[in-house]
Amino acid sequence: MPDKNKTGKYKIDTELGIAGHDLKNNHGALNPPVYHASTFAFPTVEELDAANLKKFDTFSYGLYGTPTSYALEDGLRKLENANHAIIVGSGLGSIAVTLAGLLKSGDHLLVSESAYHPTIKFCKNFLNKFGVETTYYDPMIGSNIKKIMRPETKVVFTEAPGSITFEVQDIPAIAKVAHDAGALVVMDNTWSAGYYYKPFDFGVDVSVQAITKYIGGHSDLFMGSITMRERALYDKIKLAASSFGHSPQPDDCYLALRGLRTLAARIKQHGETGLALAKWLAARPEIEAVIHPAFENCPGHEIWKRDFSGSCGLFGVVLKDSYSETDRNRMMAGLKLFPIGYSWGGYESLVVHDNPYQSRKTYNFPYKGPYMRIHAGLEDPDDLIKDLEHGLGLL
Ligand SMILES: Cc1ncc(COP(=O)(O)O)c(C=O)c1O
Repeated sequence: MPDKNKTGKYKIDTELGIAGHDLKNNHGALNPPVYHASTFAFPTVEELDAANLKKFDTFSYGLYGTPTSYALEDGLRKLENANHAIIVGSGLGSIAVTLAGLLKSGDHLLVSESAYHPTIKFCKNFLNKFGVETTYYDPMIGSNIKKIMRPETKVVFTEAPGSITFEVQDIPAIAKVAHDAGALVVMDNTWSAGYYYKPFDFGVDVSVQAITKYIGGHSDLFMGSITMRERALYDKIKLAASSFGHSPQPDDCYLALRGLRTLAARIKQHGETGLALAKWLAARPEIEAVIHPAFENCPGHEIWKRDFSGSCGLFGVVLKDSYSETDRNRMMAGLKLFPIGYSWGGYESLVVHDNPYQSRKTYNFPYKGPYMRIHAGLEDPDDLIKDLEHGLGLL
């Protein structure tokens, strides 16, 4: 097993500090400058034509990349120990572009039912229209996925831990079955931010991430990352990204690269505070369950211990079923340090409600009470706990 914290020449925290540096060509400027370039100009027709032939590897038109996006891609490759990286307009964009690039009419797709819900909606509302059939599966299926593979299954989509319900999938077991059957494995690796899970060591072929979350880290940008080891997969998915018109935005690339510089320090703090809040909540009489991959009650906890090297600040909380959703909503509205809102991975704490009972068809969410998801931000954990205590008092 390779050292999970090592990639490239140095350990990952060091690599993230120097990714994209090009002091020689940038007059010594440490931070790669921002190129606002749609057009790259050439002295001759022949030189433009030559650049266009290699458009995924050089500069020909800003849609395909600029020195600014290349600098960010360097960091994304190092983060996940990949050979290639593609930047698109959002995390959801990275999922849609990857599936559109890898699948064609007549293909069959397997998607974990614990996947980020808009991923499932993309399959239902769009891939469906283009003749790709999707089957949803229990995230804890492991090697039993063999039973639902078909000859035309081309991609198995995984996400670990799952959105909202946090099941940790056995990706190596799934990958073995998928690869034996000639299918590819795609993973949404956003929860670990690529920092605590190295997808290509576990059989993943293509990793997608919402840069919007921990890499951006400040709740001020939308961006998605797609990484892989195989050049052929890069070519297919890059073609899809550029065909759909995903051009990396230079200022956002700059912000995302700046986010990468501090990712290691931030995610460690998010993880530590998240665990402190989760442990405190788990001991409270109002709480039915805290669902956190580092806790034994989380489905796949043993897999998390085996394959992940840490946790971020995102976890689920179920109130006792004697409380109603109205009680939960009153509690959430009473919190001062946890604004109610979508997304996570920014510097701030957040809370959001959900209803994991409605949507699951292939397995049951084993609790009954009202659910909320908490993101632990970078505020002082003592203040956050006091705020949660105040909120629970409003139930
Ligand atoms: C696990 C996961 N993947 C993907 C996304 C999509 O990211 P974006 O909001 O950038 O489209 C999200 C957003 O919440 C997410 O939670």
